[in-house]
Amino acid sequence: MSLRVAILISGSGSNMVALAQSMQGDHPARPCLVLSNDPAATGLSKARAMGIPAAAVDHRPFGRDRAAFEDALMRPLLEAQPDIVALAGFMRVLTPEFVARFEGRMLNIHPSLLPKYKGLNTHARAIAAGDSEAGCTVHEVTAALDDGPILGQARVPVLPDDTPDTLAARVLPMEHRLYPAVLRRVAMGARGILTLR
Ligand code: GRF
Repeated sequence: MSLRVAILISGSGSNMVALAQSMQGDHPARPCLVLSNDPAATGLSKARAMGIPAAAVDHRPFGRDRAAFEDALMRPLLEAQPDIVALAGFMRVLTPEFVARFEGRMLNIHPSLLPKYKGLNTHARAIAAGDSEAGCTVHEVTAALDDGPILGQARVPVLPDDTPDTLAARVLPMEHRLYPAVLRRVAMGARGILTLR
């Protein structure tokens, strides 16, 4: 019986596509749902084209009532009965109560070498700091933002003439390699940190 993986997105879903494409053959997991906070997320149509159930719960009508939005988001998520929840370009901060429902089985990919540069604008911050390396991190999601146990990292060089966009373009393909590799390890019950260069 395959493990069921729900993937949460907010936009293009390129990481979702990489994850979904990796869950084939002898992979112990399969995608069971792609869920977005934005009904216009282009990743939703990509999921449907791959035969994956896709749904959206628009966060905007809920305004600042984060708990009400999460109650609405939790409904289709629980209906899909996921064993693992993968945040993939999901841009809403989740409350500790929501995260606690998936303690130990919720993953996220963040475009920096955590613990450096939690939050937004990671590539601009790495360039401004004069870092020679940048990259991405897959971590377990905990109540604190971008702070959970690190499960994998991928490193890329920062070049002298890099802009945030050129650095992002170098990191993104590494995300698409790292996240599927870490998901497979987690689904197989492996432990330890995966490092890609
Ligand atoms: C990626 O850089 C990811 O690290 C960040 O969101 C960006 C877009 O991801 N969390 P995707 O193309 O929507 O998967």
